[in-house]
Amino acid sequence: MRDFQRRKDNMLIGGVSIAKLVGRFGTPLMVTDENALRENYRAVHNAFNAVFPTRVNYACKANSNLSLLRVLEQEGSCIDAVSIGEVEACLKAGFSAERILYTGVSVSDDEMRQLVERKVPINIDSIGQLRRLAALDNGHPISLRVNPDVGSGHSQKVVTGTKGAKFGIPKDEIVAAFAEAVKLGFSPKGLHAHTGSGGSDPTVFGRVTEVLVGIFERVRGELGIDLEFLDIGGGIGIPYRPEELRADLEAIASEVASKLQGSGVRTLVIEPGRYIVADTTVLLTRVNDVKSTPVKEYVLVDAGFNTLIRPAFYDSYHHVAVANKFGQQAQLKYDVAGPLCETGDYLAKERYLPKVEVGDTICVYDVGAYGFSMSSNYNTRPRCAEVLVNEGKAFLIREREDIKDLFRHQKIPSRLGP
Ligand code: LLP
Repeated sequence: MRDFQRRKDNMLIGGVSIAKLVGRFGTPLMVTDENALRENYRAVHNAFNAVFPTRVNYACKANSNLSLLRVLEQEGSCIDAVSIGEVEACLKAGFSAERILYTGVSVSDDEMRQLVERKVPINIDSIGQLRRLAALDNGHPISLRVNPDVGSGHSQKVVTGTKGAKFGIPKDEIVAAFAEAVKLGFSPKGLHAHTGSGGSDPTVFGRVTEVLVGIFERVRGELGIDLEFLDIGGGIGIPYRPEELRADLEAIASEVASKLQGSGVRTLVIEPGRYIVADTTVLLTRVNDVKSTPVKEYVLVDAGFNTLIRPAFYDSYHHVAVANKFGQQAQLKYDVAGPLCETGDYLAKERYLPKVEVGDTICVYDVGAYGFSMSSNYNTRPRCAEVLVNEGKAFLIREREDIKDLFRHQKIPSRLGP
C-alpha cells in the first residue's frame, strides 16, 4: 500500500488528480504510476544484486500491459513468461528472446514449436514435456523445474511447491531427469522452483534455495553438469492492509545468498511479479447506487469481479478510499460491491468510509498485480481502460473495450436466420 497525496479533498496519483482522470477517461479505470513501477523494480534488483549476482525475471502473468513491459525493458528487467501470448507481448515490448524464460505447465507441442521458432528458452515442467521437446529440437536451450516440496502462499489456491501440486518434476526424480535430458542431446542451463505467491518469510526463500543447491551439487557431482543458474521463482508478498509491513527485501536476499555462498552457483534468478507491479496501480470505480439493507449498507460501484476478481476468488483484502473525499473522516460501515449478478461479487467488506453518495469515486488500492490480467467479460461487460501517469501527465495505454468488441469473434449459423 502506498500513501497517496491529496489536493483539497481529492486524491492524487503520480501528481494527477483522480477527479481529472475520471472526468477524462471514465470508469472503471486502472491507473498506473510509472515512477512507482521503476522504483519497485530497482528496489528488488538492487537488494539482491547487493549480495549475489542476480537476474530479475519479471513474472508478466501479473500484468502484461505493453507499456508497463516497455518501462521494465528500459529498466533492464528480464521476463518469466507462461504462455505464447505473454512471449509475444514481451517480444513486442522490445525484449529479446534470451531475456525471456518460458515456464509453462500443460504445454502443447504447438506452443513448444512456436517457442523453438522464436528461440525462447524453455523451463521444462515434466519428463513427458522433455521428450516431446527432444522430438522437435534437442539443441534448444532448457532448464528444469523441480517440485521442491516447499510451499507458501496467501491462499491454498496459489501454493505451487508442495508435493501434490501439478507443477514441476518431483524432487526425487530430478537428477534422473537431468541425466535423461543429456542423453536426449540437451545441454541444460539451469534449475528452477517456485514455492507459491504472496509470502514474505525469508526462511521459505532460504529453504527452497537450499533444496536447489543440494540438487545443483548432485547434478554436478553425479553427472558432471555445471548449471549456469538457479531460479528460486517469485512469490514476494506486499502489504495489502494498512497495518502490514513491506517485505524485508534485504532480509530475503541475504537469507538466499547465505545458502548460495561457496556453492559454485554463478547466477541467481528471481521471478517477482506482484512485488514489482501490485502497488503501482489503482482501480477507480464510480458509485452507481447506495443501498441500505436491514443488516448492512452497500456502496454499489461499476466494477465487479469482472474487473478485479481477487476479493471474490481468494477473499483477498484490497484497501479502498473515497477518492473525492480523501481528507474526510470515516463515518459509516459499508460493503463495496459490483454490478454482477452474483452475491459473491464484492470488492471490499465492512469498511469505514466517509458518507458515500452516488457519483463518488471509489479508489481500490494495489490492483497492479493480477488485476487486469485476471479480468473478464463476465455478464457481457467490456473490459476497463488503463492509463499510465508520469509526473503530472496521463496517457491512455489501453482503450476501454466497447460493446462491439464483445461480438467480434462470434458467428451466428445462417440456418438460425438473421
Ligand atoms: N514464477 C512462477 C513460476 C509463478 O507461477 C508465479 C506466479 C510467479 C513466478 C510470480 O509470483 P509473484 O511474485 O507474483 O507472487 N493470481 C494470484 C497469484 C497467482 C500466482 C501464479 N504464479 C493472485 O492474484 O494472488
